[in-house]
Amino acid sequence: MRIKKAVQMACLWIMVTAAGSLQAAEPLPIFADPIAGDADPIRGSKHDFTGLNHRAGVVAMGGVAFSDYGNPCVYCHLSPEEAGITPGQNLNLENSGVIEGWNRYMPATENYRLYDSGSMDNKPNSPSSISLLCLSCHDGTMAVDMILFKPAAFRNKQDAALHMRLNGAKELTSCGQCHNGTVAHDISVKVVGTGLQDEHPVSMTYGGNNWKDPDFKLPDDFQHGFNTGVKLYNGSVECATCHNLHDPSNELLLTQRRDILCATCHVK
Ligand code: HEC
Ligand code: HEC
Ligand code: HEC
Ligand code: HEC
Ligand code: HEC
Repeated sequence: MRIKKAVQMACLWIMVTAAGSLQAAEPLPIFADPIAGDADPIRGSKHDFTGLNHRAGVVAMGGVAFSDYGNPCVYCHLSPEEAGITPGQNLNLENSGVIEGWNRYMPATENYRLYDSGSMDNKPNSPSSISLLCLSCHDGTMAVDMILFKPAAFRNKQDAALHMRLNGAKELTSCGQCHNGTVAHDISVKVVGTGLQDEHPVSMTYGGNNWKDPDFKLPDDFQHGFNTGVKLYNGSVECATCHNLHDPSNELLLTQRRDILCATCHVK
């Protein structure tokens, strides 16, 4: 055990040292942000993987724990040129399990345990794409840098990253290797995992939509939700209903203050 650990640590150390000599790829302007440009609040946030080393004051993350693609948007978004591509159409992506509309691969959804209870009128379905986007990192099973299209300037050959997963395990492929509460902050609280039965249900039709469920408030718009920013996606509740990655005004990126979020929808 101890020997194995020592070897792992040595490996990590080599990776850390090697990363210092890697040239960072020049950021490519592949995605124009019509809203806030360089001032988009996602830049510099925890969802900006190009800046983590700098902000955390370590060389151990971008380029080592995960690939630094030089552009923070590509970890989630397809660039506009690629957005029109449907799996299997122009590329050989058939059955390759791509999350529709996003630059990411599909996690293994057959392992998910969904929320269920006797009192639910609308049962959650298997998570839809926008929630799969979140789960492709937060279920802890896939590397955070596992993306479909990499910027042209990124050189696979020079990639020395360990492609770590967002989970608290002590393995070489887990962020928990460092994020154990000692070397760096404990990451396990950010891991949703595959047991979704303990979380607020997602990907179910909003009860208030049928105007009849007395337990729920009427949304401003059936498809898109409430004017407060608590959004519905095609009339469904998703992770992004409660969290807006582009808006840090509330704690934990919540779309509404924590004390009033639930009452946006639930009458009781
Ligand atoms: C960790 C994932 C993630 C990253 C990284 C990310 N975004 Fe987003 N982005 C989202 C999600 C989720 C939405 C919400 C989509 C929705 O509500 O329909 C979104 C929405 C948007 C929208 C549309 C806004 C709207 O209301 O329709 C734009 C434009 C955008 N992102 C640009 C960017 C740019 C530019 C970057 C890089 C600086 C970036 N995003 C990085 C996840 C991400
Ligand atoms: C966007 C609307 C919305 C918001 C905001 C919301 N919920 Fe829900 N919630 C739902 C829907 C829809 C269901 C599915 C219930 C059904 O259809 O019967 C649900 C289900 C639940 C359930 C399961 C109920 C059961 O019968 O098993 C609990 C518990 C719950 N919500 C708690 C909360 C809490 C706590 C908050 C605030 C953090 C919250 N909800 C915020 C829409 C919402
Ligand atoms: C590319 C990987 C990735 C994707 C995709 C992603 N996240 Fe995250 N998320 C992270 C990382 C990394 C952190 C920071 C973990 C930490 O602080 O230890 C994080 C943190 C968070 C936090 C905590 C923020 C805080 O202030 O502590 C929330 C909430 C969150 N994510 C929700 C989401 C939701 C909702 C989605 C989908 C709309 C999503 N994430 C998509 C990687 C991702
Ligand atoms: C070699 C050790 C190491 C590894 C591996 C590592 N980190 Fe870190 N990380 C750190 C240190 C040290 C800090 C700074 C102290 C802290 O925030 O706990 C940090 C900070 C962070 C922060 C906070 C940055 C900020 O802006 O406050 C996030 C988010 C993060 N790491 C995510 C990750 C994710 C996701 C992974 C795996 C894909 C990962 N880290 C792997 C060492 C590591
Ligand atoms: C109904 C609203 C709602 C939905 C839907 C929802 N969340 Fe959350 N989430 C919250 C609230 C409220 C908190 C903070 C309180 C807590 O930890 O329970 C939170 C906390 C988090 C955290 C941070 C935990 C921490 O303490 O730092 C992450 C990460 C997260 N959610 C991701 C997700 C993902 C991924 C999904 C979709 C599978 C999702 N959330 C769906 C309301 C929601």
